[in-house]
This record gives sequence, structure tokens and C-alpha cells, in this order.
Amino acid sequence: MRRRWLAAVAVSMAGLLTLTACGGGDDKAAGDGKSGQKKVEVFSWWTGPGEADGLKAMREIFEKDNSGFTFYDAAVAGGSGDQARALLASKLQANQPPDTFQGHAGAELQGYIKAGKLEPLNFLYDELKLKDVLPQELIDQISVQGQVYSVPVNIHRSNILWLNPSVLKEAGVSAAPATIDEFIADLDKVKKTGKIPLSIGSQWTAVHLLESVLLGSLGTDAYNQLWTANADWSGANVTKALENFKTILSYAGTPQEDWQPAAKQVADGAAAFNIMGDWAYGYFHNPAPGGLGKTSKTDFDWAASPGTDGTFMWLSDSFTLPKGAPNRDGAVAWLKVAASKEGQDAFNPKKGSIPARKDADKSLYQDYLAWDLEQWSNDKLAGSIQHGVVANDAWRAAINDAVGLFQQDHDVAKFQQALAAAAKNSGQ
Ligand code: GAL
Repeated sequence: MRRRWLAAVAVSMAGLLTLTACGGGDDKAAGDGKSGQKKVEVFSWWTGPGEADGLKAMREIFEKDNSGFTFYDAAVAGGSGDQARALLASKLQANQPPDTFQGHAGAELQGYIKAGKLEPLNFLYDELKLKDVLPQELIDQISVQGQVYSVPVNIHRSNILWLNPSVLKEAGVSAAPATIDEFIADLDKVKKTGKIPLSIGSQWTAVHLLESVLLGSLGTDAYNQLWTANADWSGANVTKALENFKTILSYAGTPQEDWQPAAKQVADGAAAFNIMGDWAYGYFHNPAPGGLGKTSKTDFDWAASPGTDGTFMWLSDSFTLPKGAPNRDGAVAWLKVAASKEGQDAFNPKKGSIPARKDADKSLYQDYLAWDLEQWSNDKLAGSIQHGVVANDAWRAAINDAVGLFQQDHDVAKFQQALAAAAKNSGQ
């Protein structure tokens, strides 16, 4: 691949919080002892509508191929995994890892590697010849000194503007806004109709919105520079981007519980726009009960988030082999499914993502996903903040805190100072 993946290096783990598992997953005790020998505990945050469909598709292949193991779904509810990652950090700290866990390629995974929590997977890469089928630049994001530490299962895109065509028509908006200024003008037109201009979910979805607004306001090169040693978070261009964020947020509806109810407001015609990753496509498109069974172009449509056409803000979900995994053989069996063409081609069309493997069956990726594959091979790249690519977990958490305060006080200067301090203190 010919593009710049932004070498992201993380040095520290997230602040260690202790949480209890809060939903999702298999409804049975984790167990240990004899039955625990066979159980494979797979830790993710794919419990909600849309997300769970993808995991189920991969689980079915695992169960078909591995009658000697029982799949144990240890998923922890909460979009983007903020709650799952906090619980995971405490489990890792206590040296009680699950057999395998989901981690984002890039700075987030580098944090687990540097903390010494993962086994290298070169033996598996050699056995399955994975270096021939995964993009080298993706492998670089999950490696340290030639050792590879996870199996990437997909590529997601973060910078998507989901929209409701009927609501926009009613507001007199004929095309998706191409720039931030057009976006703000369109939000205002929708407001006059009484519909929600922009739907929003829980706290992390505001950070997700911020990354698209930064990219759309600054442009790709200046955005990518924010994650390098030469970053300047105090410049006038960042001030302008944060002012845009403030204006855009002023058009947001009542925050919903998570990303799904916010996305649903668009699909149901209550809201015009939502900026969310393409897991929303799986949710819109998959049949009920997992998805909403909606039809693209009529019930919903999409475009690059304003000002970001030609740039793919990427992230990638990957699975790991923690040191001390209670059922190491079972975890390796799971990783083999996650790495396989069959596993990725079952998982991704349901998940709303494209495969990490280069040899997937393209005919399975239709509609939004065909567009996505095309964009992936042509666009410039930028890395997601909220989904672990450019900032390590401590830095991401500091950005989350700054956004939370900003949502209360709307003070751009204070917000910019907090972001500059977060960058300085990131240790990345
Ligand atoms: C991301 C994750 C996606 C999707 C999303 C919403 O962090 O990479 O696979 O799960 O959160 O929960």
C-alpha cells in the first residue's frame, strides 16, 4: 500500500479503573477448573444491535470447526468499548486475562504490548502465511521490533456522515454538505423544520464527532501532524476547528444512551444527520432483530463527513493472545478463525466493515461496503482518536475528559489548552 499510516507509538496503559461487567455476553458464570479447560473466553464490546451480528457470524464458524472448545462470550456492553477497556485494564493488572481480547490496532495495542501483556504471534503468522495477505502497514501498527501481537479482523471507517434523505428534502437540502461551512448552513436549515439537525449519543460519540470535525477543518496533513512530535495544538487553525466543533455541537439533539439510539433517530426520520463509524451501516442494513432492516438511499444515505472527502479515517479491530491466557490452545483456535478468509468474510458484511485480508471475496461487499472498499484503496489515510489509532489510552482518556468539560462550559480557549496539555503529557 502506498499511503502513510501514521506510526503511532504508545507507552502507557490506561488509568486502571475497576468496573463490574455491565451486560452482554453469555449469561453464565465464567467458571474454571475442568470445564474451564475447554471454555474459550472471548472479550469484546460487541453486544449491541448491529455489532453482535458480526461476532455471532464468526462464533458460528469457530463452533463448527472446534467441537472440543466452548465459546464463552465475555462481551461488555457499551459502544466503542470504553467500559470494556476499563474492566480489561483491571483484569490485566491482576494477571487474570481473558483467553483473547479485542484491541484496536495502533497506539492502543502498542500500550498493551509495552506493558508486557501480550504474547507475540509470529508463530501463527508463519503457520498461516498471514504476512502475504495482510497489508504490511497494518502489520506495522501491531508490531514492535519484528514481533507481531494481534490478528486484525477488519478495517472500519470513522468519518461518515449518515443522513436521512427525506428530512433533508423537507429542509431544502439537495446534496450532502461537502465542507464544514456547508454542513453548518444545512444544520441550520434543518433546525427550522423542527427536526433534530444532528443526533448524538453518549460521551464518546462527542469525541468521535470531534475527530471528524478536526479532520474536516484542518485537512489531512495538519490533522496527521497533531500526532507527531512536531504537533502544534495551540495554533489558530486548531482554534478555528474547535470553534466549528462548538457551532456544530450547538445543533445536537438530546444525547442518547449510546450510538445505536442516536443512529436510529436518523433512520427513523427524527434527525437529519449523525456522524458515526460504519458499524452504523451494519445496524441500519442487517435484518431485525439484530439490525433495523433499512434500505440505503431511501431510508438512509451517507457521504464522507464534511470536508474529508478523499481521506479515510481508519481503525481496525484485532484479537490478541494475552500472556497467561487460561486456555491458550482455545485462544489460538479463535485467532485462526479471526485470521481466516472464511471468518473475515462472515464477520465483516454483518459488522459493516471491510476485511483486513487483501484476498477477501469482493462480491460479498455490496452497497455501502462496495463504496468503502473502493475508498479504502484510493483515499489518503488518517487515524481515529477515539478508536485507538493515533493516541494511546491515557491520551484518549484525557481528550475524553476535555470534551466532557467543554460540553458543559463551551469555553474554546480552555478546551484548546486542555487538548494541548493532553498532548504534552501523553508520553507518546
Ligand atoms: C469501535 C470498534 C468497532 C465498533 C464501535 C462501536 O471502537 O472498533 O468495532 O464496535 O467501536 O461500538
